[in-house]
Amino acid sequence: MAVQYKPTDKLSFVIANDYRLLQVMSRFGISFGFGEKTIQDVCRQCGVDTDTFLTVINYVKDGAEDRLQKVEHVSVKSLLGYLRKTHVYFLEYQLPTMRRHLLSSIDCSVKNEIAFIVLKFFDEYVDEVRKHMEYEENKVFTYVEKLLEGGAMSIEGMHTLSYHHESVDGKLNELKNLFMQYYPQKENNNELNSVVIDIYQTAEDLSIHCLVEDNIFIPAVKKLEHLNRQRRAVDEISGNETEPMAGDEQLSEREKEIVICVAKGMANKEIAEALCLSVNTVTTHRRNIARKLQIHSSAGITIYAIVNKLVTLDEVNV
Ligand SMILES: [Fe+2]
Ligand SMILES: [Fe+2]
Repeated sequence: MAVQYKPTDKLSFVIANDYRLLQVMSRFGISFGFGEKTIQDVCRQCGVDTDTFLTVINYVKDGAEDRLQKVEHVSVKSLLGYLRKTHVYFLEYQLPTMRRHLLSSIDCSVKNEIAFIVLKFFDEYVDEVRKHMEYEENKVFTYVEKLLEGGAMSIEGMHTLSYHHESVDGKLNELKNLFMQYYPQKENNNELNSVVIDIYQTAEDLSIHCLVEDNIFIPAVKKLEHLNRQRRAVDEISGNETEPMAGDEQLSEREKEIVICVAKGMANKEIAEALCLSVNTVTTHRRNIARKLQIHSSAGITIYAIVNKLVTLDEVNV
């Protein structure tokens, strides 16, 4: 098994072994000037969770195999900050810089159709990456922030994240091939070579970013969901007040109607009659509600309905 870095290793030693880890360091918000300090000292000084930093560098240093990592000691908050900074790096620095290099290395005169196609291809690719990262920022990361505040969980945020990575991963490889196989050679190819190398490095960096999300972030968030679920169940049993839940936007209008009926103490047969549905349909809705909210008892549904203002306290059956 490959050597794993420890909290007591010097950060300078880690960077000397693999300069690419400088990127990881900077995305965690650690800057130069760490001298002879150990990883744990630098992390403490910069407010970075040491275990999370170590989990990421130990994963990335050997090229990030596509395999789930141990996440018991990972701080989701710290990792979220790291992923956000990585998005900013790609969208605001690396991809625009690559476009500038591309523009200066290819001949964009009107007659050069391949140059035009390459540029178009690149722009479409950046657009996909941007959409993907915006989706993560707006949907997934917002959801995770709510989880960190102790809010309710829906499995959808985590469920969909991993399914979007193929499009982010594959296209840069196609662009490299497009260059190498079809782009006309010039006498001096230094600039073009440098762009192709840049594409290789960016493709690798992006692929590692996706793997960190798939194999560290998602399992760590699932663990957090599990902990919140357990805590909420304990709260329910002990009658403690729970914080407002964030899952109601996941329910359809029909499901909300059923939640209201359950909170009022109606049985499935009564709900079916009141809403002109079959009992089977009501049962299916209730199963979906339980899955979406991760609440399986009528008492839990009643609490959910109250805190989300679907019913008033006077209406419920307690
Ligand atoms: Fe991402
Ligand atoms: Fe992603």
